[in-house]
Amino acid sequence: MALLTGKKALVTGARKGIGRGAAIRLAAEGADVGVNDIVDDGVTHETASLVRERGRKASVHVGDVSSLEGIDQTMDDFLSQHGRIDILVNNAIFPGQSKPLFDVDEAYWDSMMELSLKGYFFAAQRAAREMVDQGGGGSIVCLSSVHAFRAFQDWTVYGVAKAGLRRMVKGLAVDLAGTGINANCIAPGYIDNRLPESGLEPEPDDLSDKPGQALRIPSSRGGVPSDIAGAVVFLCSDMGGYVNGETLLVDGGMIASGGILD
Ligand SMILES: NC(=O)c1ccc[n+]([C@@H]2O[C@H](COP(=O)([O-])OP(=O)(O)OC[C@H]3O[C@@H](n4cnc5c(N)ncnc54)[C@H](O)[C@@H]3O)[C@@H](O)[C@H]2O)c1
Repeated sequence: MALLTGKKALVTGARKGIGRGAAIRLAAEGADVGVNDIVDDGVTHETASLVRERGRKASVHVGDVSSLEGIDQTMDDFLSQHGRIDILVNNAIFPGQSKPLFDVDEAYWDSMMELSLKGYFFAAQRAAREMVDQGGGGSIVCLSSVHAFRAFQDWTVYGVAKAGLRRMVKGLAVDLAGTGINANCIAPGYIDNRLPESGLEPEPDDLSDKPGQALRIPSSRGGVPSDIAGAVVFLCSDMGGYVNGETLLVDGGMIASGGILD
């Protein structure tokens, strides 16, 4: 039986990668899905088509979720088409997230914090407000990272933002007590976010050309978006309803093994 029948879900940054995987899996479990992305092209609309292929309603909301204006436009547009919101997946990220320490400048710092902390916070705030006004209940999922758990060279600013999200969902859980809304992070490890030449996602990386990583990922392969999508569905369904304020590592054991990215 489908786990999310009739739910209305908004996924930010859903054009490709983990966001697309989440959109597809949410639809497979019965949810209607709003596909947000800052890029408006055939790939973004293809994600919506993949949702429709699973028998669910899909909508595309092109917008920049690092600004309050973009968040409100996206949310208003989503609500005008779906009528309510039950699930928010805060997922958007821009390319080029690592930077050597001495190359970090104010613009890079600000853009990371604007999208990954400010944007995720105000999208969660707006979604929670709607969920409370609807009578309560709902799920907020934020994409954190293994970088929130340990330091990797050149990833300090990204790691600060992703660690902030771990604290943010604890605060949301506490502030939303009694509303029936749960707020959690998922912390992926190494996930192949490339668009596949065929099929829904790339074949998992067998790590044969990355012996260092193979040693440090106990699951002995790289991750793919569907690995993360399963965790999204779990946290948004009744099965995960009692998980609140938590950050779930989905990393093939990378952090358990003290993993280091080569
Ligand atoms: N891929 C990984 O290995 C990995 C590991 C840990 C955490 N994560 C996290 O998972 C999430 C998804 O990562 P991914 O690798 O699938 O990313 P991705 O680059 O494949 O997709 C991100 C999408 O977000 C969109 N986007 C960028 N800025 C935006 C904005 N301001 N407003 C709206 N959309 C915007 C992009 O256009 C893109 O389509 C991110 O939060 C990332 O930090 C990914």
